[in-house]
Amino acid sequence: MKKSASGVGAGVSKRVWARRTMRALLASSLVLVVGPMSGGASAEPKFTIDDSSFKCMQDMTAVRHFYVDNLLGHLPETVAVAQVGKGDYPEGSVLQLMPNEVMIKQAKGFNPATRDWEFFYIDVSPEGSKIYKRGFADVNNRLGLNCFTCHVKARPEFDFVCETDHGCDPIPVTRAMFGALQRADPRCKNQPPMSAEDQEALKQLGEIVKALTSKTN
Ligand code: HEC
Repeated sequence: MKKSASGVGAGVSKRVWARRTMRALLASSLVLVVGPMSGGASAEPKFTIDDSSFKCMQDMTAVRHFYVDNLLGHLPETVAVAQVGKGDYPEGSVLQLMPNEVMIKQAKGFNPATRDWEFFYIDVSPEGSKIYKRGFADVNNRLGLNCFTCHVKARPEFDFVCETDHGCDPIPVTRAMFGALQRADPRCKNQPPMSAEDQEALKQLGEIVKALTSKTN
């Protein structure tokens, strides 16, 4: 009123607008909170994934040559699917073959295109894990290749899990190399000295990565 020579009631309508906006914001955040529980197609995650969600691979559960975990306490269900080797993973499932690459199953309906898997590329060091990149269709591995593009090729009964014969494009990483990477995970405490075989496997992997990245750059 005091300063509004230019627009009568401008202050009032601004206040009304602010109140409406606030109400709308509150309403929409309520929707976001109840959305996932009611099965709505909300993009709001049901549980939080941050740097602290990741751990030393050797503290996860080994199934064949990869490791699994569950962020929601459903580890037995996750292990059961991994052991059978087909079927849908329960939400909260964490899968890892290498320290830097992680797949985590979000709540049902979160992203139908990836069957609710979220892909992560994380940096690992003795200090812990740091998410470098996360997402659905736009996360790449260290060679600049897209996680989704490969994993979507797994036949439907395998729920995006590639292993060796599920239909995905192969990766130039041998079992010896995965094993060495898993045993060399810098986040694990009290690591024994690396064996000569593991050192050799990592050296070969380093050479492959160098050759592939220099080709694409
Ligand atoms: C070139 C294709 C390709 C790309 C790109 C790729 N993967 Fe994979 N991934 C595979 C294959 C093939 C395997 C299985 C390897 C094996 O078991 O010998 C695999 C294995 C895995 C596994 C273990 C479970 C499984 O599917 O067997 C996880 C977890 C994983 N990848 C995550 C990722 C993430 C995260 C990214 C991106 C940062 C990524 N991958 C990029 C092909 C790919």
